[in-house]
Amino acid sequence: MTITTCVFDAYGTLFDVNAAARAVASEPGQEAFAAVWQEVSTHWRAKQLQYTWIRALTGQHTDFWQVTKDGLDWALEKTGQTDPDLREKLLGLYFNLAAFPEVPAMLAALKAAGMNTAILSNGSPPMLKGAVDSAGLDDVLDDVLSVERVGIFKPDASVYKLVTDRFGCDKDEVLFVSSNGWDATSARAFGFRVLWVNRAGEPLDRLPDPPDRIATDLTTVPNIAQAL
Ligand code: LAC
Repeated sequence: MTITTCVFDAYGTLFDVNAAARAVASEPGQEAFAAVWQEVSTHWRAKQLQYTWIRALTGQHTDFWQVTKDGLDWALEKTGQTDPDLREKLLGLYFNLAAFPEVPAMLAALKAAGMNTAILSNGSPPMLKGAVDSAGLDDVLDDVLSVERVGIFKPDASVYKLVTDRFGCDKDEVLFVSSNGWDATSARAFGFRVLWVNRAGEPLDRLPDPPDRIATDLTTVPNIAQAL
């Protein structure tokens, strides 16, 4: 079926999850942090996601801002970073994360082609509003769907169902775009068409339901959506 609706994961897909730690590492006086920023950022993201999966499976939901703080605290302790100002600075930047450079034009092209556009994210509504506002994406998104509407994290199927409920469309009219392999495969299992954005040249996950398409960034999304 023709694609009518393009839906994007937020963190890692539209917004660069390494941007906060990278920005602090480049500040004068942050030489000690600059030596470990990549390790901090990698642990931060890994723990943040692990906590979402464990909380979903054990029925202990909290919002994504809490698991973002918890993941950062683990990463800072792991790497021996004890400065409380550093923690606050990283969280402040995470709340207003930068979008990847091609995002505004890509979303504008989808709107010009008549597509519905939305975010579907684990992010809490305030976090998503902070990121969307700071990237200036409000005018090119029809909606920002947060898992807080169903109270469980991805990849629970009730999260993906928010999209078909919101737009009144069939699953195979939706192109779901994610840089997270586990999110891409779960959305494919739900019944969406899926584009995996593989910026880092990672191997394909050994999971069922591989993506329909793979790209290295988001620039080709409008062409892929119209060709599927
Ligand atoms: C999100 C996480 C998975 O935005 O990146 O849902």
